[in-house]
Amino acid sequence: MAQRAIKTPEKVTTHRMPLGMPSRFWALSEWSLVPLRAFLGVTFIVAGLQKVANPDFFSAKSPSGIHAQMLGAVRLSPIGGIMRHLVEHSTQIGWMIAIGEIAVGVGTLLGLWTRVAAIGGALLSLSLFLAVSYNTSPYYTGADIVFLFAWLPLVVAGGGSRLSIDGRLRTSSARALGQPDSSLVAMPFAQVQALCGHYQNGRCRAQSGAPCDPDGCPVLEGPRPSMPARGGLDEVDRRTIVKGGVVAALAAAASLALTAVVAIIGRAARPAGSQGSTGSTTTTTQPGGLPGTPVAQASDVPVGTSVAITLPSTGDPGIIVQTAPGNFVGYDSICPHAGCLVTYSGAANLFVCPCHQSKFNVDTGDVISGPAPTGLTPVTITQSKNGGLYVT
Ligand code: FES
Repeated sequence: MAQRAIKTPEKVTTHRMPLGMPSRFWALSEWSLVPLRAFLGVTFIVAGLQKVANPDFFSAKSPSGIHAQMLGAVRLSPIGGIMRHLVEHSTQIGWMIAIGEIAVGVGTLLGLWTRVAAIGGALLSLSLFLAVSYNTSPYYTGADIVFLFAWLPLVVAGGGSRLSIDGRLRTSSARALGQPDSSLVAMPFAQVQALCGHYQNGRCRAQSGAPCDPDGCPVLEGPRPSMPARGGLDEVDRRTIVKGGVVAALAAAASLALTAVVAIIGRAARPAGSQGSTGSTTTTTQPGGLPGTPVAQASDVPVGTSVAITLPSTGDPGIIVQTAPGNFVGYDSICPHAGCLVTYSGAANLFVCPCHQSKFNVDTGDVISGPAPTGLTPVTITQSKNGGLYVT
C-alpha cells in the first residue's frame, strides 16, 4: 500500500528534559492534581490552625507539646544531634511549623506559587518524618512519609493551570500582552499526527530517537513555545510572577489575621485550670550513704497517682507511680513511637500517650496498644526510710 506523503514541519529547537521526558509531560496530570491539591491544602491549613489554637503545643510543660516531642527526638531520631541544639528554641520552632503549615496549605489550596508551596510542604514533611515518625513500624503506617511523597507530584509538575490562581494570572498576563492563552488542552494523538505528520507506519517518530511531544510540532506550539523550549522567562512569565507576588502578599496578610483570631479564640476557649503540665518535678539533695539519686518524696505520690521527675542518668523526663502502698514503679516517660511524653491515667491504671494514644502497662511498661513499637524503659525506684524516692 502506498504511504501517505507527509509534509515535514519546520524544525524547532527544543530543550530536552532529563530521562527522555517530554517537555510537557505534566500536561497529562493537570486535572488529576486538583484533588491532591485540595486534600494537602486543607490538611495543612487545619494542622497549622490546630497548633495555633492550642497553647499546650507551645508549652515546655505539656506532654504533647513541641518541647516534649523534640526531647523525644533527641533520643530517638536520626537527627537527634541537631535536635539537641534546637530544643531550647522549641516555642519559636513550634510557631514556625504552625505558620509554615498554614502558608503551605493556603498556597496549595489556591494554586498560588504552588511549586514553592509544595517544596515547603515536602521539607516540612521530611523534617517531621526524621524528627517524629522515623521509628514508626511498619514504616508505611507513619503519616509523614506518605505526605512527603504526596508532595512530590506538585514539586515536579507544579499545580497546573486548573482551578488555580497561578493559571488565571498566566492567562490574564498573556491577554494583556496580546499573546495567545497558553493553557494546555487535551487532544487525540491521531489529530496531532494529522497536524504534525510526525509518524510513520502508525508509530510516533517525531525526530530520530527523540520522544514525541508537542514542542516538536510548530502547529501545536503556536507563537509562544513552552518555557523549556524557550529556555527562559518571557514577558508573560514576568508579569505573572509580579502579579502572583501581590496576590501572595494579600493572602499572607489574610492568613496572619486568621491565625491571630484562631490563637485568641483557642486561648479564650481553654478550660480553666488546664495548663498542660505533667506536675512538678521534685529533686532533693543527696544524703550520703543512700543508693541512687534522690528524685522525689513518697509523699509527692499518693497511691494511684504519678509524679514527673528528671532521670539523673540521661536527663530524660521520667514518671513515678505508686501502684500500691509502698510499691513504686518508674519509667522514662518518652513514648518510643514519636517521643511525646506519656501520662498516667489513674482511672484506667495505664500510661497513655497523648499524641497517638499508645497505651502501656503500669507494672511492666509493656505496650498494650500501639502504634508504639516497644514498651517504656523502666527505671528502678528505691524508697529510703525518711520517705525519699531514689533512682538507682
Ligand atoms: S508519640 Fe505516637 S503514640 Fe506516643
